[in-house]
Amino acid sequence: MWLLLPILLYSVIFLAVRHIYSHWRRKGFPSERAGISWSFLHQAYRREFRHVEAICEAYQTGRDRLLGIYCFFRPVLIVRNVELAQTILQQSNGHFNDLKWDYVKGYRRFNLLEKLSPIFATKRLSEMFGHVQRVGDHLTAHLLHLEQAQGRALELDLQQMLRVYAINIIGNLIYGLDVNNFEQKDHILSSYVSTGHASLQSFTLRRLPQKSSFTYRLRDLIKQGVEHREEHGLIRKDILQLLIRFRNGNDISGDKWQIDMDNEQDKLLSIKRVAKVAEELLKVSLDSVSSNITLTLFEILQEPLIVEKLQTEIKELSVENGLLKFEELEGLKYMDMCLKETNRKYPPLPIIERICRKSYTLPNTKFTIDEGKTLMVPLLAIHRDERYFSEPMKYKPLRFLHTEKSAECQSSAFIGFGIGGAQCVGQNFAKMVIKVALIKVLQNFHLELDAALMENIEISHQPAPFIRTKDGLKVRLKRREIKPKFYSYAKSKLGSGRNSFSC
Ligand code: HEM
Repeated sequence: MWLLLPILLYSVIFLAVRHIYSHWRRKGFPSERAGISWSFLHQAYRREFRHVEAICEAYQTGRDRLLGIYCFFRPVLIVRNVELAQTILQQSNGHFNDLKWDYVKGYRRFNLLEKLSPIFATKRLSEMFGHVQRVGDHLTAHLLHLEQAQGRALELDLQQMLRVYAINIIGNLIYGLDVNNFEQKDHILSSYVSTGHASLQSFTLRRLPQKSSFTYRLRDLIKQGVEHREEHGLIRKDILQLLIRFRNGNDISGDKWQIDMDNEQDKLLSIKRVAKVAEELLKVSLDSVSSNITLTLFEILQEPLIVEKLQTEIKELSVENGLLKFEELEGLKYMDMCLKETNRKYPPLPIIERICRKSYTLPNTKFTIDEGKTLMVPLLAIHRDERYFSEPMKYKPLRFLHTEKSAECQSSAFIGFGIGGAQCVGQNFAKMVIKVALIKVLQNFHLELDAALMENIEISHQPAPFIRTKDGLKVRLKRREIKPKFYSYAKSKLGSGRNSFSC
């Protein structure tokens, strides 16, 4: 009898596991043989398992457009064809609603992100640009100060500096604070930079932890900001101001900034919800922005011609009293291509994940995915797939010069900001702040990569989900004397060379 019990228990577990691991085969989907090995359990226990790499490997096996795999006990469907992925992301919104962004007004349910998207409209961003420049100037001033104190070429970890820049952007624009974490090292936001998401082991945005020990302290910051502005009718042109306007039922798609107060019971968002939105924005923007700048610099510093070309483009900007003009950022076409190429090669978010809320027949296929099951679009693997981008591991910004499909690449396979209704709402904001940082750094400094770093650099999504370099980005940095001759040389060499220039 006592012997039978463990045998029975073992059999039940065995059958249950076998049932889970046969999900895709039973549904007729192409799938891989599944099982749990000791090495997997060991890595998972030590939090060393590399989800992103494992999913990319699965993407590379076989040729089917879809592949059923298992993330531990979770059946996951990977889309391995970019056209199919794009169609799904564009057309399937009703089937993959993300409850995180739901909010209810009256008897109707809305998607909060959709409602908040006017915050990132061009007109709004242009008016927030002053704050962004100031944060950019803090970065320059800090680097100049360090360089001066050193008295010779300064060696430093630029990745860390850029994380501070990104958190300063978040502090100033999202939390509405005049904060400079290069100086105020004891600020709560500074501790966010150093601790970061070290404890995260998820690999998509959907699985970011909902609460951390910072949540309550960040909520206090928002509470103070909201109450202060509502009580005194203050105007500060930033994201928080527009969140407060939205909370009070004011239109945010126009151009007004002042807050027309609503009764407490009529407010659309509680302070707690505003704080939650702000923290979500912090989580999605901190690493994505800082990694994009860091990895752009990492790549271009290996190609002096790219640096020259960017510096030539920057030189064309008209600067009045040290201030850049927002409208001119759009003219930085070559820089745009570099940012896109960085986002292609190193998408900060490697996988787009959707959880099926009601069963969905995948377009142009015979397959139906059931409610509750997960679908993944592996951006990293698609962006590094030779079928879509020739020589995918080469950094070639000019591949995005051709918008239409060309023999060399299909730039339309780029989905670094997502696509369709749920694509990244903050992409224009991201481009603006990334460009300002690059302008400030390239305008003011000569940079050289640490040679040892170039050989041993490890760029990974560990800890997931965001990408970063394991040991930072060590560079030698020297103040730049701007010589007009350099520019005329660079211009004559590069200006006409679009077609002959391969990077
Ligand atoms: C280079 C920088 C960035 C990249 C590459 C990026 C990329 C992405 C991607 C791929 C998604 C998922 C889209 C989908 O699910 O279909 C996303 C979602 C999102 N992004 Fe960005 N993003 C960047 C910066 C930012 C910034 C600066 C903000 C805001 C200030 C932002 C706000 C958001 C939000 C709110 C979402 C939705 C998140 C969710 O569904 O939980 N992003 N982003």
